[in-house]
Amino acid sequence: MASFSRSLPFMSGRRRVILAAMSVAFGNILPARAAQNVLAEFGGKDGLTAIMEDFDTFLMADSRTRPFFEKVDRKRIKQQLVIQFCALLGGDCVYSGGNMKGIHRGLQITKEDFNALIEALQEAMDKHKVSFRAQNKLLAVLAPMHRDIVEK
Ligand code: HEM
Repeated sequence: MASFSRSLPFMSGRRRVILAAMSVAFGNILPARAAQNVLAEFGGKDGLTAIMEDFDTFLMADSRTRPFFEKVDRKRIKQQLVIQFCALLGGDCVYSGGNMKGIHRGLQITKEDFNALIEALQEAMDKHKVSFRAQNKLLAVLAPMHRDIVEK
C-alpha cells in the first residue's frame, strides 16, 4: 500500500487513500461488469469525447503541458484517448493506437509533466461532474502507466 501511494505523486490526502484501497481491492483491473458501469458514469463514449475536448483545452492552457502538445496532431490524440479510455473502462472499444512506451519515447517527460497532465484530466472530469469514485477508477488504471511514459 505504501509503495503504491508513493507511485501516485499527483495525488494527496483523501484521493490517494481511496485509490490505494481500491488498488488493493481490484488489483488495478476493473471487473467487466463494474467497468461497464464506470463508463456510463463518464456519459459513455459521447461523454468521454466531451471530456477530452476540455482536457485538451486545459492541457493547452497550462505552461507545463502546452509545449508537448502545440506541435502534434491533437485531433488524433483526442480520438485515440477516447478509444483508449473507453476500452480501459470496459466499453466496446478496441484501442489500436501506439503503445505508451513507443509513443512517448524521447519526449523526455518528467514526473512533474505527468502530474500536470493528470491534474488537467481531473479538472476536465470535475467540470463534467464525473463522480469522485468513477474518476478514481480511471486514475487507478492510468497511474501505473507512468512507468512507460516518464523518462526523467
Ligand atoms: C497516463 C497518461 C497518458 C496517457 C494514457 C497517454 C495517452 C496517449 C495517447 C493514446 C496518445 C496517442 C497515441 C497515438 O497517436 O497512437 C498519446 C500521444 C501523445 N502524448 Fe500521451 N499519454 C499520457 C501521458 C502523457 C504526458 C504526461 C505527456 C506530456 C506531458 C504526453 C504527451 C503526448 C504527446 C506529445 C503525444 C503525441 C505524440 C506524437 O504524435 O508523436 N502524454 N498519449
